[in-house]
Amino acid sequence: MDRRTFLKSTGAGMLLTGGGLGWAQPAMRPLPLIPLTDLTGGIEDRVSLSLGLGRHDFGTGTASDTFGINNAYLGPVLRVKQGQTLPVDVANNIGDTSTIHWHGLHIPGDVDGGPHQEIAPDAVWSPNVPIVQQASMNWFHSHMHGKTARQTYNGLAGVLLVEDDASLSADLPKTYGVDDFTLVLQDKMFDANGRMTYELSAAVFEDGFEGDTLVINGAIAPVGQNVPTGLVRLRILNACNARFLRLSMEAGPITVIASDGGFLAAPVATESILMSPGERYEVLVDMKAFETNTLNVNLNGDGGGFFENLFGGGQTVPALSLTRTADKGFDGAMPTQLAILEPPKPEDATVTRSFQLEMDVGADLAALALAWDNFCGDAGAMAINGQPMKMDRIDEEVRKGDAEIWRISVDDQLHPFHIHGCSFRILSQNGAPAPAYAAGWKDMVHVEEGLSEVLVRFDYEATKDAPYMYHCHILEHEDCGMMGQFTVG
Ligand code: C2O
Ligand code: CU
Ligand code: CU
Repeated sequence: MDRRTFLKSTGAGMLLTGGGLGWAQPAMRPLPLIPLTDLTGGIEDRVSLSLGLGRHDFGTGTASDTFGINNAYLGPVLRVKQGQTLPVDVANNIGDTSTIHWHGLHIPGDVDGGPHQEIAPDAVWSPNVPIVQQASMNWFHSHMHGKTARQTYNGLAGVLLVEDDASLSADLPKTYGVDDFTLVLQDKMFDANGRMTYELSAAVFEDGFEGDTLVINGAIAPVGQNVPTGLVRLRILNACNARFLRLSMEAGPITVIASDGGFLAAPVATESILMSPGERYEVLVDMKAFETNTLNVNLNGDGGGFFENLFGGGQTVPALSLTRTADKGFDGAMPTQLAILEPPKPEDATVTRSFQLEMDVGADLAALALAWDNFCGDAGAMAINGQPMKMDRIDEEVRKGDAEIWRISVDDQLHPFHIHGCSFRILSQNGAPAPAYAAGWKDMVHVEEGLSEVLVRFDYEATKDAPYMYHCHILEHEDCGMMGQFTVG
């Protein structure tokens, strides 16, 4: 019996006592608005992003040591428009080598910000990032090989919203901080003094690091926000290192309008949505229908992680509580059509590739956890197709413009799989069709049992000096070697 099965059988039926999770508190604090840099009106100067050390109080009353990008914790929300080129200067002031990867952008490998575009301490990386794709919610985060998990957890992450002509003129709420909110969801661990902690062990490597406290935009949940009467838009990122989250609304269904790579064909109203680490969804909440409504988050998702095993069943926490004011807000009705989304055509694929994600390659995870520094950089404790990630080995060579089917399977556990440089369509997820809210453009798919298959095409170049990555987005697994590299040419 492996550890997971053991915990599942012994943990079933146990109840969580007390007031819930970690540092979750009965008092509600206001939703922090992440500072917005809106460039949709035009870009005159280079955009500076400074990776730095910060001190941030998540709401425990004690400041934690953090990383931030132009902020004490996390980065800004950058808002750009299709057709622009984003000239950005990323200055590394964290005292350690880092990178910034544009997760979700369709861009060439040499500006992708993966592990090959290292930024030395005190150096500046100055890519010109072409914004070619349609309106979508993307993000950026550290991709420093072997240190991605720790650097991202500490705060090296931000949101990049792409707009296009259609999205800017669409009949949708779009006033930032009024009826349009960006939510960065994370789970954190705090010590008895209220300082954010991050500890590794063999078990943490296995499941990925999972905290017991939900944090939204850097504030411990629940958070509250007043909104005008009308529709309200929530653009949501699961920026957890490892935790799957299940989201629902207190009143009524949750109505999804967009996934990772753009709008759905039409809104999908459903009871709940499952978000893996790295995934994004946009949601509309009808605040004409309700005076208050709450976004609830189940911290166990379907993750099969330690928490679920130990405590059994769900642990749902109120995340964001919306309260309607008398102000008139976005007046439009719930849209009935959003975008034209052709069904995927798998028959167009000329190449099929298979990827088996492997947890157990016989490495001593406890020893790796103790080593701490660059903990899994070259250790190769996890693998894909038998090969732990190696910076100097190219695993796949893809031809630009070809439609391909990628089939992903695992040897154990549930893993979120991500591919750089593209958006894809899910053909199957865990051996079944994807839920309707995940049927549009995606760059994340998950798999536990059976196969997950995606239809993908790469339109930009990635050379062997600047290859793209594919990997598990449980960041500890990625750091441990559950990642591979490919070129496009
Ligand atoms: Cu969000 Cu390769 O990463
Ligand atoms: Cu990515
Ligand atoms: Cu994984």
